[in-house]
Amino acid sequence: MADDHLGEEAQPQSARPLHSSPLSLHSVGSSHPNIATQIAPTIQPDSEESDEAYAESITTSYVTSIASEISKGVLENDRIYPNYGKHSYGLPVDEHEMDRLDLQHRKYELVIGDRHFLAPVGPTPQKILDLGTGTGIWALDVADMFPSAEVIGVDIAPIQPKWVASNCQFEIDDVEADWMYKEDSFDFIHFRDPLYCIRDWPKLMSQCLSHLKPGGWCEFACIYPVPMCDDGSVPETSGFKSVCMKFMEAGRIFGAPLDVPLHFATYMREAGFVDISENIFKVPASPWPKDKRLKQIGALEMTNILEGAEAFGSRVFHQVFGWSKEQIEVVLMDMKRDVRNRAYHQYCQYIVVYGRRPT
Ligand SMILES: C[S@@+](CC[C@H](N)C(=O)[O-])C[C@H]1O[C@@H](n2cnc3c(N)ncnc32)[C@H](O)[C@@H]1O
Repeated sequence: MADDHLGEEAQPQSARPLHSSPLSLHSVGSSHPNIATQIAPTIQPDSEESDEAYAESITTSYVTSIASEISKGVLENDRIYPNYGKHSYGLPVDEHEMDRLDLQHRKYELVIGDRHFLAPVGPTPQKILDLGTGTGIWALDVADMFPSAEVIGVDIAPIQPKWVASNCQFEIDDVEADWMYKEDSFDFIHFRDPLYCIRDWPKLMSQCLSHLKPGGWCEFACIYPVPMCDDGSVPETSGFKSVCMKFMEAGRIFGAPLDVPLHFATYMREAGFVDISENIFKVPASPWPKDKRLKQIGALEMTNILEGAEAFGSRVFHQVFGWSKEQIEVVLMDMKRDVRNRAYHQYCQYIVVYGRRPT
């Protein structure tokens, strides 16, 4: 199945069947007649430990230039946060974070089988909206993929490039506010990694539904940051797990719970979407798998965790638990140590849910 996929690069993404994904998902039934759920199989670990340098070799070095970025927002514990939007956002939006987001983009595309999304959007969509677009990397790729489409990326932070393809534009706005876009106008609405972002999910889903054309598709994709293990190799004392559980607790108190990907399908169904498909991928936390592709994903994820740890914790741990920058660094060291341990076969789920507005 995996090899079939490799010969399909030239085929339009929307024409590729989902089952051709190299991470072949299998059906696990359904929590509701309108929701079909599929999950990735158990990952086989690599028994050879000779590629120690693998992950370290792709670690990006980051350069942060605070002075030139201050216009993007407010400075807090050496990181820049957006100063726009009704509620505060939990992650920074500085150069360091922008590098992380761009690396994540590559990782997520690998995870879902070298695609930009999974929804069966037709070959000639006319209007596409990317919510919380970040650096705009997804919107730019999708504008390139669909020259027929006008692609709009919206974010509370002005961190997108100024010069872009003529069919792509970026806007600064809060997606939790009432939308000014025309109703019934989009063919596809997308939101990836809405971590520590959204307070009112039913309102957001309902705005997505009413702004899609009848028959249009909506897709939400997000990491569920609770480490899991299928072979008992991770002790209960794992620092990765315990720090992630603190992220979960902080997200809840912050008002933007991180377990939201588990509820995407239900929120969509309650808003009125149909033909909902929930796809659960496994993202290894380090290059521990035997499979080459999963090993590469694991290397990217390890870089993401090692380089992004401060971003995930700085604001929320400080605001929610009152921890100082130094206290946060100590806590995160436990996590970093155990993420590097490739004897621990840990992974997080990446949940991609799409659904259609009824015609
Ligand atoms: C984790 S980043 C993901 C960026 C992008 N979707 C990606 O996958 O590369 C979340 C983004 O959502 C933006 N964001 C957070 N709250 C928002 C809101 N209420 N309205 C619009 N954008 C928001 C942040 O500024 C940030 O750029």
